[in-house]
Amino acid sequence: MKTFYYLLLISLFISLSNASIVEETCKNISSSHPYIAYDFCVSSFKSYNASSQAADQRALAIIASRLANSTAVKTQARIQELMEAEKNQPRKNRLDVCMEGYSLAIDDLRTAEQAIGAERDTDAQIFLSAALGASSDCEDAFAEAEDACPLETENGEYDQMAAIALAIVAALHR
Ligand SMILES: *[C@@H]1O[C@H](CO)[C@@H](O)[C@H](O)[C@H]1NC(C)=O
Ligand SMILES: *[C@@H]1O[C@H](CO)[C@@H](O)[C@H](O)[C@H]1NC(C)=O
Ligand SMILES: *[C@@H]1O[C@H](CO)[C@@H](O)[C@H](O)[C@H]1NC(C)=O
Repeated sequence: MKTFYYLLLISLFISLSNASIVEETCKNISSSHPYIAYDFCVSSFKSYNASSQAADQRALAIIASRLANSTAVKTQARIQELMEAEKNQPRKNRLDVCMEGYSLAIDDLRTAEQAIGAERDTDAQIFLSAALGASSDCEDAFAEAEDACPLETENGEYDQMAAIALAIVAALHR
């Protein structure tokens, strides 16, 4: 019976401390980066099961890169749909800019994830910053043509997720 209570206490402690690492990290980065929304940050991590086992900030940074990757892959699927339905060539070209940007971002996120794992944090920041450009390049392609971007929601979500990964890596050394 005693063992049972110890195990209960230990698992309670582990789940409390893991809940707080996500929440504390999200609180810290959202307070220093006004465009990162605390609720979005917490719910994104909670959507990823392994977050509850993340032992430290580095593990969370890797998870954030993977979440940004999933968002990029999802956005590409959406771009593909839009391209298939689009008859206007200039608009198709703009969608193509977005598609290319996200392809590069997916490569950069993979490199960033490896760099975080290898504790090469400066490299990780460079690749995450590059990856972060995908959403704004896509927005710019439409803005320059004075055309409404059909990917505002997807770009916004991606931008937040990539910014979260970058903010966590940037905080690793402090
Ligand atoms: C949050 O910020 C505080 C104050 O800078 C710091 O002491 C703490 O370690 C940080 N926690 C996380 C999980 O980043
Ligand atoms: C996350 O965990 C829950 C409960 O353990 C499980 O039902 C669900 O399928 C898991 N989701 C993923 C994406 O692995
Ligand atoms: C990015 O996401 C796709 C789709 O979920 C997956 O196949 C790929 O392995 C992911 N890449 C990385 C580096 O996690």
